[in-house]
Amino acid sequence: MAKLGVNVDHIATIRQARGGTEPDPVSAAAIAELAGADGITVHLREDRRHIQDRDVMILKRTVQTHLNLEMAATDEMVAIAMKIVPDYVTLVPEKRQELTTEGGLDVAGYIQPLTKQIELLHQAGITVSLFVDPDLEQLKASARVKADFIEIHTGSYCGAKGHEKAPELAKIEETIKASRKLGLRVNAGHGLNYRNIRPVLALGGVEEYNIGHSIISRAVLVGLDRAVREMAELVHRS
Ligand code: PXP
Repeated sequence: MAKLGVNVDHIATIRQARGGTEPDPVSAAAIAELAGADGITVHLREDRRHIQDRDVMILKRTVQTHLNLEMAATDEMVAIAMKIVPDYVTLVPEKRQELTTEGGLDVAGYIQPLTKQIELLHQAGITVSLFVDPDLEQLKASARVKADFIEIHTGSYCGAKGHEKAPELAKIEETIKASRKLGLRVNAGHGLNYRNIRPVLALGGVEEYNIGHSIISRAVLVGLDRAVREMAELVHRS
């Protein structure tokens, strides 16, 4: 059975919109776990646009499943991870201007620094995953730098329309098979929703799916009815 890692970054995005304390991604993580999440994922971005250091520190103490910290492959972030010691670190490329993570990590282009960073994270007892495009060169490089997992960037598959979708799914299938041969464990994520995840689930071979946007989007819609009812009751009772 595959596992579900729930990404709670967007809860923090709403909090940061007002600069206050609610909604708290720590509370969201607890609710997600009670609802069946097998892991909690947060992305501590260098610009701290949503998740804050405080969130990761508290989550490390409160998460009952496992905590997956997504972060850029920089020495500053590696130092933070070694201090907090999440269960997993997923190294991702990061650009300041992007709305969300665009493209996978260029592992092949950064063999030396990544080898060193992964070694440090391993010494701290952290399992390391690399967020990569479904590309054989990047897989081989991921095995070379001694990553434990790769996370397949499913963005191109999710964004593909009509007849473009099948070849993107085939790339994911080939990546799962090639990773196994290279001794890499496989996660997947980005852009997955309640519909497009089905063909990927049918492939098998993925240990954990990391999903954020579609779950939080649905939570807003399915939760709106109750939220309005509670406020309406208060107001109308006055
Ligand atoms: N995996 C990684 C490495 C990501 O950067 C993201 C986006 O933060 C996700 C999974 C989740 O993507 P989505 O929010 O589209 O489900």
